[in-house]
Amino acid sequence: MTSAGDDIPFPGPEGVPDRVFHAAYRSKPAMWRTGIPQTAVLDGLDRGWFSTGRLLDAGCGSGENTIEIARSRPDLRLAGWDLVPEAIALARLKSRVARVENRIEFEVRDLRLATDRPAFDDVLDAGVLHLFSDADRGEYLDVVQSLVSPGGWFTTIVFRDDETRPGGPRRMARDELANSLEGAGFRIASIEPTVYDTRAHEGGARAWLGRAQAI
Ligand SMILES: C[S@@+](CC[C@H](N)C(=O)[O-])C[C@H]1O[C@@H](n2cnc3c(N)ncnc32)[C@H](O)[C@@H]1O
Repeated sequence: MTSAGDDIPFPGPEGVPDRVFHAAYRSKPAMWRTGIPQTAVLDGLDRGWFSTGRLLDAGCGSGENTIEIARSRPDLRLAGWDLVPEAIALARLKSRVARVENRIEFEVRDLRLATDRPAFDDVLDAGVLHLFSDADRGEYLDVVQSLVSPGGWFTTIVFRDDETRPGGPRRMARDELANSLEGAGFRIASIEPTVYDTRAHEGGARAWLGRAQAI
């Protein structure tokens, strides 16, 4: 992701290059590394989401959301996948500290290329869909769609188009999100305003919280 002060305030259809993610866990923490679960994920837990079976946290980073869900839902089995080995190492460490490591399998995986595709009742995408280029977005959503069992849920949090402050990923219009989800074969249950907490956007970056069901 770019950060405040860069020449380009945020990327467009080219998306965020992979090298940004690799650097984010090696040098100073990137803007999304707040160290705590996302507000929108806590809201989802309060509403009773993420409550049955198996959940995948797609692009889990250092695992704060995965671990919070595991703590709140003692019967759930979870997986967390991320591109960056350092992120997964951190997530494993944090899950041991939180004593939920027996219920979470953290793995290094590229979500555009997932070859074996276990079934999940829920896939959470906290700040991931908006990272991909136009070319990669379809690949990613096809993978996600194939991972969600029929009737299961895909929950996504993406920066929305009225977040005009610099920094972060590309922004998505409501229709763009809706078309992307429907185009991948999901039925949309809701798309509502929320925030994605970062270290650079006071009060959280304006975002969409999308909830869609696999048909
Ligand atoms: C903005 S961070 C969000 C991390 C976490 N979901 C959170 O909310 O704290 C996006 C994450 O997606 C991961 N990521 C980016 N491209 C990926 C890919 N192709 N496959 C798997 N993970 C990817 C990055 O490494 C990064 O950890």
